[in-house]
Amino acid sequence: MADAETPTIYLRDYTPPAWLVEEVQLTFRLAPETTRVLSRIRFTPNPEATDRTFVLDGEGLTLISARIDGTEVDPTLTEAGLTCDVPDTAFVWEAEVEIAPASNTALEGLYMSNGMYSTQCEAQGFRKITYYPDRPDVMAPFSVRIESDLPVLLSNGNRVASGEGFAEWHDPWPKPAYLFALVAGELVNLPGSFTTRSGREVELNVWVRPGDEDKCDFAMEALKKSMTWDEKVYGREYDLDIFNIVAVDDFNMGAMENKGLNIFNSSAVLANARTATDANFERIEAIIAHEYFHNWTGNRITCRDWFQLCLKEGLTVFRDAQFTADMRSEPVKRISDVLDLRGRQFREDGGPLAHPVRPESFKEINNFYTATVYEKGAEVIGMLKRLVGDEAYAKALDLYFDRHDGQACTIEDWLRVFEDTTGRDLTQFKRWYSQAGTPRVVMTDDWADGTYTVTLKQSLPDTPGQTGKQPQVIPFAIGLLDPSGQEVVPTTLLELTETEQSFTFAGLADRPIPSPLRGFSAPVVLDRQTDAEERAFLLAHDTDPFNKWEAGRQLAKTALIDMIDGGQAPDDRYLDAVRRVVTDESLDPAFRSLCLGLPSEDDLAQSFADSGRTPDPQAIWDGREAMRGALAEVLSGDLGPLYRAHLVTEPYAPSAEQAGKRSLTNILLSLLTRRDGGAAAQGQFADADNLTQQIGALSALLTNGLGSLELASFAEQWSHERLVMDKWFMIQVAHARPADAARVADALTQRPDFAMTNPNRFRSVFGALAMNQAGFHHASGDGYRLMADWLIRLDPVNPQTTARMCSAFQTWRRYDADRQGMIREQLERIAALPGLSRDTAEMVGRILE
Ligand code: ARG
Ligand code: ZN
Repeated sequence: MADAETPTIYLRDYTPPAWLVEEVQLTFRLAPETTRVLSRIRFTPNPEATDRTFVLDGEGLTLISARIDGTEVDPTLTEAGLTCDVPDTAFVWEAEVEIAPASNTALEGLYMSNGMYSTQCEAQGFRKITYYPDRPDVMAPFSVRIESDLPVLLSNGNRVASGEGFAEWHDPWPKPAYLFALVAGELVNLPGSFTTRSGREVELNVWVRPGDEDKCDFAMEALKKSMTWDEKVYGREYDLDIFNIVAVDDFNMGAMENKGLNIFNSSAVLANARTATDANFERIEAIIAHEYFHNWTGNRITCRDWFQLCLKEGLTVFRDAQFTADMRSEPVKRISDVLDLRGRQFREDGGPLAHPVRPESFKEINNFYTATVYEKGAEVIGMLKRLVGDEAYAKALDLYFDRHDGQACTIEDWLRVFEDTTGRDLTQFKRWYSQAGTPRVVMTDDWADGTYTVTLKQSLPDTPGQTGKQPQVIPFAIGLLDPSGQEVVPTTLLELTETEQSFTFAGLADRPIPSPLRGFSAPVVLDRQTDAEERAFLLAHDTDPFNKWEAGRQLAKTALIDMIDGGQAPDDRYLDAVRRVVTDESLDPAFRSLCLGLPSEDDLAQSFADSGRTPDPQAIWDGREAMRGALAEVLSGDLGPLYRAHLVTEPYAPSAEQAGKRSLTNILLSLLTRRDGGAAAQGQFADADNLTQQIGALSALLTNGLGSLELASFAEQWSHERLVMDKWFMIQVAHARPADAARVADALTQRPDFAMTNPNRFRSVFGALAMNQAGFHHASGDGYRLMADWLIRLDPVNPQTTARMCSAFQTWRRYDADRQGMIREQLERIAALPGLSRDTAEMVGRILE
């Protein structure tokens, strides 16, 4: 369907459903190409609706028969479902449909891959399974019977019966269809158990394909920790007798919180020391927690409509971030999250795909599972918590769970619990949900007669469809240091509500050095004219770990921009400051590692664009290389000793403590490799008994133009481990020189083990190509062409993953006319494809607009 023909859905058009569902019974007779789905649905008129039109959603279904109250009916089939004349009182709808899971490569609805059936229904996949009012405000208890010879047959809720060739499940908790799930296959499980605070015995399972049994332990432990944490911190208990997690290889996203049956991309659940990195372990722990936490924030309380997606996602991301901070290091988590926010969300906010945290229109909702909805959505909750305080936040959450359990809610409901708890008017705060774009806060300061004055001025750029924005409530945490480095004013929260506002601090002996926006208290761009001395001072003295890191980051950024743009030598003040941090044994190795990292190519490109200059991807790449050279030089005497002092040699544990050391030694190793011809990296590669060190060594070699032998031996060693091989594909593209990136990626796609039907493998190559900025934006245009060629191939197979990958082009207007011309050509080539999916059409259309 061409973009122009696809209807746009608007938040303002919401109307309550005409019919509610009291109960659903489903029977699945599984067969790869001819699965029969029998439904029995008890409908009842919604007293809150006036209209009684009966419309069911349905896509790609073959209707075999339909009955109302036992009498055969002949519904009118439409492109999007069906309509039918119905009684004006409660009735029972029965239908039998046929679907073909084995031909379903879109991985939405019920699909089969690797001999296993699984489902993905969020957001609108259930309509590919049977005719149904597929909207989240229609909630019902489900009973499911699965008929198949496969040994493991799973669905939501509790198992009520099973025998030769069948299993029956009942989920007593009313849920929307997007939380429905079914899994069938030859699976093996790691069993576990958990006793809830009130004494419910819960059976736990992690289900995987045979051969992956050795990669389940960590996920099981993460699940138990999540269950304990949610009881302790939010007072939320699990509410069924069983909780199943299933690993699936072909999956469009990270994971899905289906009630009692969470389905995961295998990359988000399988892990052991040999086949997963520290970063994987941390991500798995976070995703397990995220999906588990959805049981309350998402499932027990769900969304009224898809515009409210941030209601469950923003809150659940916020909760999983709190969990990770508790399990690991709070500052390290905060710094990583801000890096991610700036890298993905600010980038989105600053381009053609910008949209509010609560979007107001869409054509394809799958395109709105974005960094803005998720990560900015979580930041908004963090701000709310800061503004009302921890105690009020806890009270408001209790009220939210009490008041709205079992309901499908809106952002208005969410904000009201805070207003009712605190008496605070959140009208202005609500603009965070409706106005797109990243606020810019200009800070200036003044000193007179012992009084220090901070002036903050906010502005919000225009974004697609939005101009003339109103000031937002910006919680601005600030601390003040005296010239000796002592903190004279501890972290204080300023509430910026006007376009411009001044705040004073009286009674100070000396002009203080400000530490502004501590903890990154609001997702804004802080604009403050300052110098390298002040930044170096904060890097040395700030008590706020985020701002300590931020000072170093700003130093690095300024130094890099001066090198790239002004041809200046690497700034000694930056190099000296970094050297002091990296060699400071009182600091956490993970923190030191973060301080040693340089701003990404994309981050630098954005800085150029923000100041009205055209970024040159090759010059940015060269600048970072030169800076790495300068770092290796200034640290030359320290690299070897520091590396050896922190190299972890004890048995592998995925702990934050060990991971921090490995992170530091890996980054030191990549600098060391510039100087020792690869000796240390080859040694680490050979000795490694864990993937973090093995990949770390391989990356260090590849980054420095070495490592072809190691690359080959790695492939040989891991050819049977698909998740490890994904990394092998990825790092080659990620570390390729700019002129080689497209060629390397192209060559990888010709391998027999490249399969575009597997989203992980596809992303390993093309996600990495998009990340390799200088390679993707190489002046030849080869990167753009290759990307477009493959998006064109993938779209008919898997629209969701294609559409998501289109965001590689979202920053195109930053670049010079030649590059813009080449990108436009590729985007138009995609847009012109006959039969282009709604998903991709919407994305390309928005990017080109
Ligand atoms: N609700 C899932 C999660 O955040 C993600 C579902 C993504 N769905 C989609 N159509 N992109 O845990
Ligand atoms: Zn989620």
